Amino acid sequence: MVLDSKKSAKLNFDDQEIDLPIFSPNLGPDVVDIRKLYAQGDVFTYDPGFTSTASCESAITYIDGDKGELLYRGYPIDQLAEKSHFLEVCYLLLYGELPTAAQLDEFIPRVTRHTMLHEQMAYFYRGFRRDAHPMSIICGVQGAMSSFYHDSTDINDPWQREVASIRMIAKMPTVAAWAYKYSIGQPFVYPRNDLDYASNFLHMCFAVPAEEYNVDPIVARAMDRIFTLHADHEQNASTSTVRLAGSSGANPFACIAAGIACLWGPAHGGANESALNMLREIGTVDRIPEYIARAKDKNDPFRLMGFGHRVYKNFDPRAKVMKESADEVLGLMGIEDNPTLQVAKELERIALSDPYFIEKKLYPNVDFYSGIILDAIGFPTSMFTPIFALARTVGWIAQWKEMIADPTQKIGRPRQLYTGAKYRDYMDVENR
Ligand code: CMC
Repeated sequence: MVLDSKKSAKLNFDDQEIDLPIFSPNLGPDVVDIRKLYAQGDVFTYDPGFTSTASCESAITYIDGDKGELLYRGYPIDQLAEKSHFLEVCYLLLYGELPTAAQLDEFIPRVTRHTMLHEQMAYFYRGFRRDAHPMSIICGVQGAMSSFYHDSTDINDPWQREVASIRMIAKMPTVAAWAYKYSIGQPFVYPRNDLDYASNFLHMCFAVPAEEYNVDPIVARAMDRIFTLHADHEQNASTSTVRLAGSSGANPFACIAAGIACLWGPAHGGANESALNMLREIGTVDRIPEYIARAKDKNDPFRLMGFGHRVYKNFDPRAKVMKESADEVLGLMGIEDNPTLQVAKELERIALSDPYFIEKKLYPNVDFYSGIILDAIGFPTSMFTPIFALARTVGWIAQWKEMIADPTQKIGRPRQLYTGAKYRDYMDVENR
Protein backbone atom coordinates (compact mmCIF):
# COMPACT_ATOMS: atom_id res chain seq x y z
CA MET A 1 0.00 0.00 0.00
CA VAL A 2 1.61 3.27 -1.07
CA LEU A 3 -0.79 5.52 0.81
CA ASP A 4 -0.30 6.70 4.40
CA SER A 5 -3.23 6.23 6.67
CA LYS A 6 -4.03 9.61 8.23
CA LYS A 7 -7.45 8.73 9.61
CA SER A 8 -9.06 5.75 11.24
CA ALA A 9 -12.52 4.37 11.95
CA LYS A 10 -13.70 2.61 15.08
CA LEU A 11 -15.84 -0.50 14.97
CA ASN A 12 -17.70 -1.34 18.18
CA PHE A 13 -19.41 -4.67 18.81
CA ASP A 14 -19.61 -7.30 21.57
CA ASP A 15 -17.67 -5.07 24.00
CA GLN A 16 -14.81 -4.83 21.51
CA GLU A 17 -13.46 -1.68 19.89
CA ILE A 18 -11.35 -2.14 16.78
CA ASP A 19 -9.38 0.65 15.10
CA LEU A 20 -9.48 0.46 11.34
CA PRO A 21 -7.06 2.60 9.28
CA ILE A 22 -8.59 4.78 6.56
CA PHE A 23 -6.73 5.54 3.34
CA SER A 24 -7.42 8.61 1.23
CA PRO A 25 -6.90 7.86 -2.46
CA ASN A 26 -5.89 10.44 -5.10
CA LEU A 27 -9.50 10.49 -6.31
CA GLY A 28 -12.68 8.92 -4.99
CA PRO A 29 -14.01 8.11 -1.52
CA ASP A 30 -11.86 7.12 1.44
CA VAL A 31 -11.29 3.42 1.94
CA VAL A 32 -11.49 1.65 5.31
CA ASP A 33 -8.77 -0.96 5.62
CA ILE A 34 -10.37 -4.11 7.05
CA ARG A 35 -7.54 -6.52 6.28
CA LYS A 36 -6.84 -7.25 9.96
CA LEU A 37 -10.50 -7.31 11.00
CA TYR A 38 -10.88 -11.09 11.08
CA ALA A 39 -7.63 -11.58 13.00
CA GLN A 40 -8.55 -8.88 15.52
CA GLY A 41 -12.31 -9.25 15.87
CA ASP A 42 -13.17 -12.72 14.53
CA VAL A 43 -15.75 -11.24 12.13
CA PHE A 44 -16.03 -11.05 8.37
CA THR A 45 -17.61 -8.27 6.33
CA TYR A 46 -20.50 -9.11 4.01
CA ASP A 47 -20.66 -7.43 0.59
CA PRO A 48 -21.87 -9.74 -2.19
CA GLY A 49 -21.57 -7.91 -5.49
CA PHE A 50 -18.74 -5.79 -4.01
CA THR A 51 -20.90 -2.66 -3.96
CA SER A 52 -18.81 -1.13 -1.13
CA THR A 53 -15.56 -3.04 -1.37
CA ALA A 54 -12.28 -2.00 -3.01
CA SER A 55 -10.65 -5.26 -4.04
CA CYS A 56 -7.24 -3.81 -4.90
CA GLU A 57 -5.10 -0.71 -5.20
CA SER A 58 -4.85 0.51 -8.80
CA ALA A 59 -3.42 3.49 -10.70
CA ILE A 60 -4.86 2.72 -14.13
CA THR A 61 -8.48 3.86 -14.51
CA TYR A 62 -10.74 6.09 -12.46
CA ILE A 63 -14.51 6.41 -12.69
CA ASP A 64 -16.65 9.05 -11.00
CA GLY A 65 -20.12 7.60 -11.44
CA ASP A 66 -21.94 10.72 -10.22
CA LYS A 67 -20.06 13.10 -12.50
CA GLY A 68 -20.09 10.64 -15.41
CA GLU A 69 -16.30 10.78 -15.62
CA LEU A 70 -13.92 8.12 -16.90
CA LEU A 71 -10.16 8.69 -16.81
CA TYR A 72 -7.44 6.45 -18.22
CA ARG A 73 -4.24 7.26 -16.28
CA GLY A 74 -5.82 10.66 -15.54
CA TYR A 75 -6.83 11.52 -19.12
CA PRO A 76 -10.60 11.94 -19.76
CA ILE A 77 -12.10 9.42 -22.15
CA ASP A 78 -13.68 12.03 -24.44
CA GLN A 79 -10.27 13.67 -25.07
CA LEU A 80 -8.68 10.32 -25.80
CA ALA A 81 -11.56 9.28 -28.08
CA GLU A 82 -11.29 12.52 -30.01
CA LYS A 83 -7.53 13.09 -30.16
CA SER A 84 -5.78 9.79 -29.59
CA HIS A 85 -6.00 6.35 -31.17
CA PHE A 86 -6.25 2.84 -29.82
CA LEU A 87 -2.59 1.78 -29.91
CA GLU A 88 -1.53 5.01 -28.22
CA VAL A 89 -4.19 4.32 -25.56
CA CYS A 90 -2.80 0.78 -25.19
CA TYR A 91 0.63 2.27 -24.50
CA LEU A 92 -0.87 4.67 -21.97
CA LEU A 93 -2.74 1.92 -20.12
CA LEU A 94 0.24 -0.44 -20.09
CA TYR A 95 3.04 1.96 -19.20
CA GLY A 96 1.27 4.83 -17.42
CA GLU A 97 2.20 7.74 -19.71
CA LEU A 98 1.37 8.86 -23.23
CA PRO A 99 4.24 7.80 -25.50
CA THR A 100 6.65 10.23 -27.13
CA ALA A 101 6.78 10.08 -30.93
CA ALA A 102 9.87 7.84 -30.70
CA GLN A 103 8.22 5.52 -28.17
CA LEU A 104 5.14 5.21 -30.37
CA ASP A 105 7.30 4.50 -33.43
CA GLU A 106 8.89 1.65 -31.50
CA PHE A 107 5.65 0.36 -29.91
CA ILE A 108 3.43 0.08 -33.00
CA PRO A 109 5.72 -2.28 -34.97
CA ARG A 110 6.39 -4.21 -31.74
CA VAL A 111 2.65 -4.98 -31.65
CA THR A 112 2.09 -5.50 -35.38
CA ARG A 113 4.99 -7.99 -35.57
CA HIS A 114 2.83 -10.36 -33.52
CA THR A 115 -0.50 -10.13 -35.39
CA MET A 116 -0.27 -13.56 -37.03
CA LEU A 117 -1.46 -16.68 -35.23
CA HIS A 118 0.58 -19.85 -35.03
CA GLU A 119 -0.45 -21.67 -38.21
CA GLN A 120 -1.48 -24.72 -36.20
CA MET A 121 -4.22 -22.60 -34.61
CA ALA A 122 -6.15 -22.60 -37.90
CA TYR A 123 -6.73 -26.33 -37.35
CA PHE A 124 -7.86 -25.65 -33.83
CA TYR A 125 -10.67 -23.44 -35.20
CA ARG A 126 -11.81 -26.26 -37.43
CA GLY A 127 -12.70 -28.33 -34.36
CA PHE A 128 -15.59 -25.96 -33.57
CA ARG A 129 -19.07 -26.29 -35.05
CA ARG A 130 -19.70 -23.66 -37.71
CA ASP A 131 -22.65 -22.34 -35.72
CA ALA A 132 -20.66 -21.96 -32.48
CA HIS A 133 -21.02 -18.52 -30.89
CA PRO A 134 -17.85 -16.49 -31.67
CA MET A 135 -17.48 -15.78 -27.92
CA SER A 136 -17.16 -19.49 -27.28
CA ILE A 137 -14.56 -19.73 -30.05
CA ILE A 138 -12.45 -16.80 -28.88
CA CYS A 139 -12.64 -17.99 -25.28
CA GLY A 140 -11.42 -21.44 -26.37
CA VAL A 141 -8.72 -20.11 -28.71
CA GLN A 142 -7.49 -17.63 -26.11
CA GLY A 143 -7.31 -20.39 -23.49
CA ALA A 144 -5.41 -22.58 -25.92
CA MET A 145 -2.85 -19.85 -26.61
CA SER A 146 -0.73 -20.89 -23.63
CA SER A 147 -0.14 -24.20 -25.40
CA PHE A 148 1.09 -22.38 -28.53
CA TYR A 149 3.29 -19.79 -26.80
CA HIS A 150 5.06 -21.70 -24.02
CA ASP A 151 7.93 -19.25 -23.99
CA SER A 152 5.83 -16.47 -22.44
CA THR A 153 3.92 -18.19 -19.64
CA ASP A 154 6.34 -17.69 -16.73
CA ILE A 155 4.64 -14.95 -14.74
CA ASN A 156 7.73 -14.40 -12.58
CA ASP A 157 9.79 -13.27 -15.55
CA PRO A 158 9.01 -9.60 -16.44
CA TRP A 159 10.24 -10.10 -20.01
CA GLN A 160 7.88 -13.05 -20.56
CA ARG A 161 5.02 -11.05 -19.06
CA GLU A 162 5.75 -8.27 -21.54
CA VAL A 163 5.95 -10.63 -24.53
CA ALA A 164 2.69 -12.35 -23.55
CA SER A 165 0.99 -8.94 -23.20
CA ILE A 166 2.08 -7.72 -26.63
CA ARG A 167 1.18 -11.05 -28.20
CA MET A 168 -2.38 -10.95 -26.85
CA ILE A 169 -3.01 -7.32 -27.87
CA ALA A 170 -1.65 -8.06 -31.34
CA LYS A 171 -3.39 -11.38 -31.89
CA MET A 172 -6.83 -10.70 -30.46
CA PRO A 173 -8.12 -8.95 -33.66
CA THR A 174 -6.98 -11.97 -35.67
CA VAL A 175 -8.55 -14.37 -33.16
CA ALA A 176 -11.89 -12.50 -33.28
CA ALA A 177 -11.89 -11.95 -37.07
CA TRP A 178 -11.16 -15.63 -37.68
CA ALA A 179 -14.00 -16.64 -35.36
CA TYR A 180 -16.27 -14.54 -37.59
CA LYS A 181 -14.85 -15.90 -40.86
CA TYR A 182 -15.22 -19.44 -39.56
CA SER A 183 -18.86 -18.86 -38.64
CA ILE A 184 -19.74 -17.66 -42.16
CA GLY A 185 -17.68 -20.29 -43.96
CA GLN A 186 -15.24 -17.86 -45.58
CA PRO A 187 -11.47 -18.39 -45.72
CA PHE A 188 -9.38 -16.84 -42.98
CA VAL A 189 -7.85 -13.51 -44.04
CA TYR A 190 -4.31 -12.98 -42.74
CA PRO A 191 -3.40 -9.73 -40.98
CA ARG A 192 -1.89 -6.83 -42.89
CA ASN A 193 0.69 -4.97 -40.87
CA ASP A 194 0.68 -1.95 -43.18
CA LEU A 195 -2.84 -1.12 -41.92
CA ASP A 196 -3.60 0.54 -38.61
CA TYR A 197 -5.05 -1.65 -35.82
CA ALA A 198 -8.74 -0.97 -36.56
CA SER A 199 -8.38 -1.07 -40.37
CA ASN A 200 -6.53 -4.36 -40.13
CA PHE A 201 -9.36 -5.83 -38.05
CA LEU A 202 -12.01 -4.64 -40.54
CA HIS A 203 -9.92 -6.03 -43.38
CA MET A 204 -9.62 -9.45 -41.72
CA CYS A 205 -13.40 -9.48 -41.14
CA PHE A 206 -14.70 -8.21 -44.47
CA ALA A 207 -12.07 -8.85 -47.17
CA VAL A 208 -12.30 -11.98 -49.31
CA PRO A 209 -9.55 -13.38 -51.54
CA ALA A 210 -11.76 -12.98 -54.63
CA GLU A 211 -11.90 -9.20 -54.71
CA GLU A 212 -10.33 -5.95 -53.60
CA TYR A 213 -11.50 -4.54 -50.24
CA ASN A 214 -10.78 -0.97 -49.21
CA VAL A 215 -11.38 0.08 -45.62
CA ASP A 216 -13.45 3.25 -45.31
CA PRO A 217 -11.47 5.67 -43.09
CA ILE A 218 -14.62 6.93 -41.33
CA VAL A 219 -15.62 3.37 -40.47
CA ALA A 220 -12.04 2.62 -39.33
CA ARG A 221 -12.12 5.72 -37.11
CA ALA A 222 -15.45 4.64 -35.59
CA MET A 223 -14.05 1.16 -34.99
CA ASP A 224 -10.92 2.61 -33.37
CA ARG A 225 -13.14 4.74 -31.10
CA ILE A 226 -15.14 1.69 -30.06
CA PHE A 227 -11.84 0.02 -29.11
CA THR A 228 -10.65 3.10 -27.19
CA LEU A 229 -13.94 3.51 -25.31
CA HIS A 230 -13.91 -0.14 -24.21
CA ALA A 231 -10.19 -0.42 -23.43
CA ASP A 232 -10.49 -0.41 -19.65
CA HIS A 233 -13.12 0.17 -17.01
CA GLU A 234 -11.62 -0.21 -13.56
CA GLN A 235 -12.59 -3.24 -11.42
CA ASN A 236 -15.63 -4.47 -13.38
CA ALA A 237 -16.69 -8.13 -13.32
CA SER A 238 -14.39 -9.43 -16.08
CA THR A 239 -11.37 -7.43 -14.87
CA SER A 240 -11.91 -8.69 -11.35
CA THR A 241 -12.16 -12.19 -12.80
CA VAL A 242 -8.82 -11.73 -14.58
CA ARG A 243 -7.24 -10.48 -11.35
CA LEU A 244 -8.70 -13.33 -9.31
CA ALA A 245 -7.54 -15.93 -11.84
CA GLY A 246 -4.12 -14.25 -11.97
CA SER A 247 -3.83 -14.13 -8.18
CA SER A 248 -3.35 -17.90 -8.13
CA GLY A 249 -0.36 -17.60 -10.45
CA ALA A 250 -2.23 -18.86 -13.53
CA ASN A 251 -0.55 -18.02 -16.85
CA PRO A 252 -1.61 -14.78 -18.60
CA PHE A 253 -3.34 -16.47 -21.55
CA ALA A 254 -5.54 -18.49 -19.16
CA CYS A 255 -6.35 -15.37 -17.11
CA ILE A 256 -7.53 -13.44 -20.17
CA ALA A 257 -9.63 -16.45 -21.24
CA ALA A 258 -11.32 -16.25 -17.82
CA GLY A 259 -12.01 -12.56 -18.44
CA ILE A 260 -13.57 -13.34 -21.82
CA ALA A 261 -15.82 -15.97 -20.22
CA CYS A 262 -17.06 -13.46 -17.65
CA LEU A 263 -17.54 -10.69 -20.21
CA TRP A 264 -19.92 -12.88 -22.19
CA GLY A 265 -22.79 -12.48 -19.69
CA PRO A 266 -25.72 -10.25 -20.74
CA ALA A 267 -25.36 -8.07 -17.63
CA HIS A 268 -21.80 -7.21 -18.75
CA GLY A 269 -20.26 -7.31 -22.25
CA GLY A 270 -23.08 -9.42 -23.66
CA ALA A 271 -25.41 -6.43 -23.26
CA ASN A 272 -24.48 -4.94 -26.66
CA GLU A 273 -25.70 -8.07 -28.42
CA SER A 274 -28.79 -8.28 -26.22
CA ALA A 275 -29.54 -4.58 -26.76
CA LEU A 276 -29.67 -4.87 -30.52
CA ASN A 277 -31.61 -8.13 -30.37
CA MET A 278 -34.08 -6.36 -28.09
CA LEU A 279 -34.46 -3.42 -30.52
CA ARG A 280 -35.16 -5.89 -33.31
CA GLU A 281 -37.60 -7.84 -31.16
CA ILE A 282 -39.50 -4.63 -30.36
CA GLY A 283 -39.48 -4.07 -34.12
CA THR A 284 -41.72 -1.02 -34.40
CA VAL A 285 -42.16 2.16 -32.39
CA ASP A 286 -45.77 1.37 -31.46
CA ARG A 287 -44.62 -1.67 -29.43
CA ILE A 288 -42.25 0.34 -27.18
CA PRO A 289 -44.84 1.06 -24.42
CA GLU A 290 -45.37 -2.70 -24.00
CA TYR A 291 -41.63 -3.20 -23.38
CA ILE A 292 -41.36 -0.17 -21.10
CA ALA A 293 -44.24 -1.60 -19.05
CA ARG A 294 -42.47 -4.97 -18.86
CA ALA A 295 -39.21 -3.30 -17.73
CA LYS A 296 -41.10 -1.63 -14.87
CA ASP A 297 -43.01 -4.75 -13.84
CA LYS A 298 -41.40 -6.21 -10.71
CA ASN A 299 -42.76 -9.66 -11.57
CA ASP A 300 -41.20 -9.66 -15.03
CA PRO A 301 -37.44 -10.36 -15.20
CA PHE A 302 -37.20 -8.35 -18.45
CA ARG A 303 -34.82 -5.38 -18.42
CA LEU A 304 -34.16 -2.77 -21.05
CA MET A 305 -30.80 -3.94 -22.34
CA GLY A 306 -28.26 -1.16 -22.86
CA PHE A 307 -29.75 0.85 -19.98
CA GLY A 308 -28.36 1.33 -16.48
CA HIS A 309 -24.96 0.91 -14.95
CA ARG A 310 -23.61 -0.13 -11.58
CA VAL A 311 -21.30 2.88 -11.33
CA TYR A 312 -22.58 5.62 -13.68
CA LYS A 313 -25.61 7.24 -12.14
CA ASN A 314 -25.94 10.38 -14.26
CA PHE A 315 -24.66 9.41 -17.66
CA ASP A 316 -22.12 7.05 -19.18
CA PRO A 317 -19.39 9.26 -20.71
CA ARG A 318 -18.59 6.51 -23.19
CA ALA A 319 -22.21 6.54 -24.38
CA LYS A 320 -21.97 10.27 -25.12
CA VAL A 321 -18.97 9.78 -27.44
CA MET A 322 -20.50 6.63 -28.91
CA LYS A 323 -23.74 8.43 -29.74
CA GLU A 324 -21.81 11.07 -31.73
CA SER A 325 -19.91 8.32 -33.50
CA ALA A 326 -23.17 6.50 -34.26
CA ASP A 327 -24.63 9.65 -35.87
CA GLU A 328 -21.45 10.07 -37.96
CA VAL A 329 -21.33 6.46 -39.19
CA LEU A 330 -25.05 6.20 -39.88
CA GLY A 331 -24.93 9.53 -41.74
CA LEU A 332 -22.04 8.31 -43.86
CA MET A 333 -23.86 5.12 -44.69
CA GLY A 334 -27.12 6.89 -45.35
CA ILE A 335 -28.86 4.79 -42.68
CA GLU A 336 -30.75 7.56 -40.98
CA ASP A 337 -34.10 5.96 -40.67
CA ASN A 338 -34.19 2.19 -40.58
CA PRO A 339 -36.77 0.59 -38.24
CA THR A 340 -34.18 -0.52 -35.63
CA LEU A 341 -32.81 3.00 -35.45
CA GLN A 342 -36.29 4.49 -35.14
CA VAL A 343 -37.01 2.13 -32.24
CA ALA A 344 -33.64 3.01 -30.63
CA LYS A 345 -34.23 6.77 -30.87
CA GLU A 346 -37.78 6.57 -29.56
CA LEU A 347 -36.83 4.20 -26.75
CA GLU A 348 -34.02 6.53 -25.72
CA ARG A 349 -36.42 9.50 -25.76
CA ILE A 350 -39.12 7.75 -23.73
CA ALA A 351 -36.71 6.21 -21.21
CA LEU A 352 -34.99 9.55 -20.61
CA SER A 353 -38.30 11.26 -19.83
CA ASP A 354 -40.06 8.44 -17.95
CA PRO A 355 -40.12 8.97 -14.13
CA TYR A 356 -39.23 5.28 -13.47
CA PHE A 357 -35.98 5.56 -15.41
CA ILE A 358 -35.19 9.06 -14.11
CA GLU A 359 -35.76 7.99 -10.49
CA LYS A 360 -33.63 4.89 -10.83
CA LYS A 361 -31.01 6.82 -12.83
CA LEU A 362 -31.17 4.46 -15.76
CA TYR A 363 -29.51 6.03 -18.80
CA PRO A 364 -28.50 4.47 -22.11
CA ASN A 365 -25.04 2.99 -21.60
CA VAL A 366 -22.18 2.45 -24.05
CA ASP A 367 -23.64 -0.84 -25.25
CA PHE A 368 -26.84 0.79 -26.44
CA TYR A 369 -25.02 2.85 -29.08
CA SER A 370 -22.09 0.54 -29.89
CA GLY A 371 -24.55 -2.13 -31.08
CA ILE A 372 -26.14 0.37 -33.47
CA ILE A 373 -22.74 1.29 -34.98
CA LEU A 374 -21.53 -2.29 -35.27
CA ASP A 375 -24.80 -3.27 -36.95
CA ALA A 376 -24.39 -0.43 -39.46
CA ILE A 377 -20.80 -1.49 -40.20
CA GLY A 378 -22.12 -4.95 -41.06
CA PHE A 379 -21.26 -7.08 -38.03
CA PRO A 380 -23.80 -9.69 -36.93
CA THR A 381 -24.93 -9.27 -33.30
CA SER A 382 -22.94 -12.36 -32.27
CA MET A 383 -19.72 -10.43 -33.03
CA PHE A 384 -20.53 -7.48 -30.76
CA THR A 385 -19.23 -9.03 -27.54
CA PRO A 386 -16.08 -10.49 -29.20
CA ILE A 387 -15.29 -6.93 -30.35
CA PHE A 388 -15.72 -5.71 -26.77
CA ALA A 389 -13.38 -8.52 -25.62
CA LEU A 390 -10.82 -7.56 -28.24
CA ALA A 391 -10.80 -3.96 -27.02
CA ARG A 392 -10.83 -4.86 -23.31
CA THR A 393 -7.85 -7.22 -23.65
CA VAL A 394 -5.39 -4.36 -23.09
CA GLY A 395 -7.23 -3.26 -19.94
CA TRP A 396 -7.26 -6.79 -18.56
CA ILE A 397 -3.55 -7.11 -19.28
CA ALA A 398 -2.66 -3.75 -17.73
CA GLN A 399 -4.60 -4.70 -14.59
CA TRP A 400 -3.08 -8.18 -14.49
CA LYS A 401 0.46 -6.78 -14.87
CA GLU A 402 -0.19 -4.21 -12.15
CA MET A 403 -1.37 -6.97 -9.82
CA ILE A 404 1.60 -9.27 -10.50
CA ALA A 405 4.04 -6.41 -9.90
CA ASP A 406 2.40 -5.51 -6.56
CA PRO A 407 4.55 -6.92 -3.73
CA THR A 408 1.52 -7.08 -1.39
CA GLN A 409 -0.44 -9.25 -3.83
CA LYS A 410 -2.02 -12.40 -2.36
CA ILE A 411 -4.25 -15.08 -3.79
CA GLY A 412 -7.85 -13.77 -3.85
CA ARG A 413 -9.89 -15.78 -1.39
CA PRO A 414 -13.21 -14.27 -0.25
CA ARG A 415 -15.03 -15.67 2.80
CA GLN A 416 -18.76 -16.32 3.14
CA LEU A 417 -21.84 -15.95 5.29
CA TYR A 418 -22.72 -19.63 5.73
CA THR A 419 -26.44 -20.43 5.80
CA GLY A 420 -26.33 -24.19 5.16
CA ALA A 421 -26.93 -27.15 7.49
CA LYS A 422 -25.04 -27.32 10.79
CA TYR A 423 -22.96 -30.33 11.70
CA ARG A 424 -24.80 -33.63 11.19
CA ASP A 425 -23.74 -37.28 11.03
CA TYR A 426 -23.93 -39.30 7.85
CA MET A 427 -26.92 -41.65 7.73
CA ASP A 428 -26.89 -44.93 5.79
CA VAL A 429 -29.21 -44.90 2.80
CA GLU A 430 -31.62 -47.49 4.26
CA ASN A 431 -32.21 -45.28 7.33
CA ARG A 432 -33.03 -42.03 5.43
N1 CMC B 1 -34.22 -1.95 -17.12
C1 CMC B 1 -35.17 -1.82 -16.17
N2 CMC B 1 -34.93 -1.68 -14.84
C2 CMC B 1 -33.65 -1.70 -14.46
C3 CMC B 1 -32.58 -1.82 -15.39
C4 CMC B 1 -32.91 -1.94 -16.75
N3 CMC B 1 -31.95 -2.05 -17.67
N4 CMC B 1 -31.40 -1.79 -14.72
C5 CMC B 1 -31.71 -1.64 -13.42
N5 CMC B 1 -33.06 -1.58 -13.25
C6 CMC B 1 -33.77 -1.39 -11.99
C7 CMC B 1 -33.75 -2.66 -11.17
O1 CMC B 1 -34.88 -3.47 -11.42
C8 CMC B 1 -33.71 -2.14 -9.76
O2 CMC B 1 -35.02 -1.78 -9.41
P1 CMC B 1 -35.50 -1.91 -7.86
O3 CMC B 1 -34.65 -0.91 -7.10
O4 CMC B 1 -36.95 -1.52 -7.92
O5 CMC B 1 -35.26 -3.34 -7.44
C9 CMC B 1 -32.89 -0.85 -9.87
O6 CMC B 1 -33.03 -0.42 -11.24
C10 CMC B 1 -31.40 -1.05 -9.56
O7 CMC B 1 -30.91 -2.14 -10.35
P2 CMC B 1 -29.76 -3.13 -9.87
O8 CMC B 1 -29.88 -4.42 -10.61
O9 CMC B 1 -29.73 -3.20 -8.38
O10 CMC B 1 -28.48 -2.35 -10.36
P3 CMC B 1 -27.05 -2.96 -10.58
O11 CMC B 1 -26.10 -1.85 -10.32
O12 CMC B 1 -26.85 -4.23 -9.81
O13 CMC B 1 -27.08 -3.36 -12.12
C11 CMC B 1 -26.74 -3.40 -14.46
C12 CMC B 1 -26.43 -2.68 -13.13
C13 CMC B 1 -25.90 -2.76 -15.57
C14 CMC B 1 -26.36 -4.89 -14.35
C15 CMC B 1 -28.28 -3.25 -14.75
O14 CMC B 1 -28.61 -1.90 -14.89
C16 CMC B 1 -28.70 -4.03 -16.00
O15 CMC B 1 -28.99 -5.22 -15.90
N6 CMC B 1 -28.74 -3.34 -17.19
C17 CMC B 1 -29.05 -4.02 -18.44
C18 CMC B 1 -27.81 -4.74 -18.94
C19 CMC B 1 -26.77 -3.79 -19.50
O16 CMC B 1 -27.09 -2.91 -20.30
N7 CMC B 1 -25.51 -4.01 -19.10
C20 CMC B 1 -24.36 -3.26 -19.65
C21 CMC B 1 -23.63 -2.46 -18.63
S1 CMC B 1 -22.49 -1.32 -19.42
C22 CMC B 1 -21.26 -2.34 -20.12
C23 CMC B 1 -20.40 -2.99 -19.13
O17 CMC B 1 -19.72 -2.30 -18.38
O18 CMC B 1 -20.34 -4.25 -19.14
